[in-house]
Amino acid sequence: MDQIVDAVWARLHACANAGKERSPFTMLQAATIGLDGAPAVRTVVLRRAAREQRAVMFHTDVRSTKVAELRRDSRISLIGCDLDAGVQIRLYGVARLVEAPSETRAAWNASRPRTLIVYRTPLAPATPVASPAETHAAAHGEDLDPTDGFENFCLVEVTVSRIDYLDLNPAGHMRASLVFDEGKWRGTWIAP
Ligand SMILES: Cc1cc2nc3c(=O)[nH]c(=O)nc-3n(C[C@H](O)[C@H](O)[C@H](O)COP(=O)(O)O)c2cc1C
Repeated sequence: MDQIVDAVWARLHACANAGKERSPFTMLQAATIGLDGAPAVRTVVLRRAAREQRAVMFHTDVRSTKVAELRRDSRISLIGCDLDAGVQIRLYGVARLVEAPSETRAAWNASRPRTLIVYRTPLAPATPVASPAETHAAAHGEDLDPTDGFENFCLVEVTVSRIDYLDLNPAGHMRASLVFDEGKWRGTWIAP
């Protein structure tokens, strides 16, 4: 079971995107509890994985719906899938919104400018617009200051407490439930 825990974190580390190649778990789907109580899910880019802290991290806009949802209920689940390997990893945890400039500055500075455009628009995510062009114009003003939009940027750090690992190996399917308990990951096999 320790090997499964090692394998899960190794995959998450390998897939955390630092502006390099994409790999199967670079894009994860993140599920929150919607403000109306219904499930809410969206794709995010895995930016960092840190086994020691049991943490995974993604970037987002403080004005987005998911942030409002996480402020109300910090529980979150993330899922990713490697189609070639037939492996699914599902993470459960609690999100911390990291908004202090002292904590977000390094991530902002390390991000490719192209990925920061979304934070520069004065239009908050989900604002109704007459056409998509309206948002393009708003985000591409001239003579941008490199710090423009920084106030809208935040990190979401998820502390993972449970992992559901599924391997659809042709030789035999395997599913493990890994729970962090008393300082240690404890795993049990469960039926797929
Ligand atoms: C490939 C891809 C990657 C994305 N990565 C992120 C991301 O890292 N962070 C983010 O906030 N939104 C990301 N999005 C947009 C979200 O999926 C979502 O549409 C947006 O954040 C609004 O979500 P919300 O209304 O639930 O807050 C990505 C979308 C796609 C298609």
